[in-house]
Amino acid sequence: MPAYSEKVMDHFMNPRNVGEIEDADGIGEEGNPVCGDMMTFYIKVNDNRLSDVKFKTFGCGAAIAVSSIVSEMAIGKTIEEARKITPSVVAKELGGLPKNKYHCSNLGAQALNLAIDDYQRKQGMKVKPRKRRKNDHE
Ligand code: FES
Repeated sequence: MPAYSEKVMDHFMNPRNVGEIEDADGIGEEGNPVCGDMMTFYIKVNDNRLSDVKFKTFGCGAAIAVSSIVSEMAIGKTIEEARKITPSVVAKELGGLPKNKYHCSNLGAQALNLAIDDYQRKQGMKVKPRKRRKNDHE
C-alpha cells in the first residue's frame, strides 16, 4: 500500500517555488528538533497580497512536498486568507499524509505564519510571539 498520495510524490519530485527572495518582506524559519528538519519561507507582499513565496527546506520528502504545496497555496492570497492555511488544510490538499508525517505539515504552516508575522512586525504591527508547538514528532 503506498504511504504517500500521488500529489505528495509529485510535489516531492518537482517542488515548486524553491529558493530565496533576496529582498523578502518577511522571513519565517521553523524546525523540528527531533528530526532536524528545517524550513525557511520568504514572502513578498503587495497590496496586502502575497505576490511571491519561496522556500528552502532541509528535510524529509514530506517536508519538501509540504513546503511546495504551501507556497503554491499561498501565492496570490491576501494575508488574511494565507493565515487560514493550517496543517490540516495542507495535509488535505496533499491528499493526506501518513500519521507519523503529520508533523511535517505543521512545520510548513508554521513557517509561513512566521514569515507573515515578520512582515507585519516590520510594518509596525504588534504581533504576539508564537508559542512553540509541542513537539509531535514520532
Ligand atoms: Fe520531521 Fe518530516 S519534518 S520527518
